[in-house]
Amino acid sequence: MPTSVADQTVAELGGPLSVLVRQKNDHVTLDGLLRDLRITDGNEQQRVLRRIYRLVFPHAFAEEAVLWPVMRRVLPDGGELTLEVEREHQEVNELVERLDSMGPGSAERSPVLDRLVEVLREDVRDEEDELFPRLQERVSHSELRALGVVWEILRRTAPTRAHPIVARRPPGNVIAALPLSILDRLRDLADEVALRSPAGTGVVMDTVSSGLGAVSRRVEFLPVMRRGEDRSTRYGGESPGFPWTALALAASAIVVVAASRASSARL
Ligand SMILES: [Fe+2]
Ligand SMILES: [Fe+2]
Repeated sequence: MPTSVADQTVAELGGPLSVLVRQKNDHVTLDGLLRDLRITDGNEQQRVLRRIYRLVFPHAFAEEAVLWPVMRRVLPDGGELTLEVEREHQEVNELVERLDSMGPGSAERSPVLDRLVEVLREDVRDEEDELFPRLQERVSHSELRALGVVWEILRRTAPTRAHPIVARRPPGNVIAALPLSILDRLRDLADEVALRSPAGTGVVMDTVSSGLGAVSRRVEFLPVMRRGEDRSTRYGGESPGFPWTALALAASAIVVVAASRASSARL
């Protein structure tokens, strides 16, 4: 029985640059955040959730784009093993999409949160106890370090939000990474400004954020973003129409904020 990555030292995992050490570090951070989620509520819980999303989505996106293709190449049963974790990632994306569409007091919120925590923990166990020990059997320490560098670069530039519609496999997810990452990071910025702004500007920035969200959803439905998808991780929802209204609202909000900044700078 192979030794779980959780029970191995940094040296056994290939050194600090190894993809397995980087994975394990993120998993430990996630574990702490999942515990914080249990002991918080209201706005505080929302802040913890946002930190979980910022950690989990780029982490998983980089796994799907870099690590799982290597597993499929080096292991005869790599296809089955990686499909299992891709299904878990897909479920996480769909659960977060449901959470985002619910009001803070919704009765459905608690069971969805419970399931989210459960799937995230299962995903970590599958990776640390099964997938990564199998990868270690086939890949040298220097290859693990090279994979670590590529995975880290991708993780730092990947989308930061749930995207249940794009493929969980290349080439779709790799093509989707750039436009969705730009849209997500603009939304993150708008949300940050909204949190720190007076009520009026906050509402404008919320409009910008939801406008960008509608645009990114439309981008996700482009057929090229879904190429390579296994049928079992395919999202079943309907494609929305082009979000002209949301786009116009977001553009006018940006103009209003820029104009008010320019006029206050002149005073
Ligand atoms: Fe992971
Ligand atoms: Fe994962």
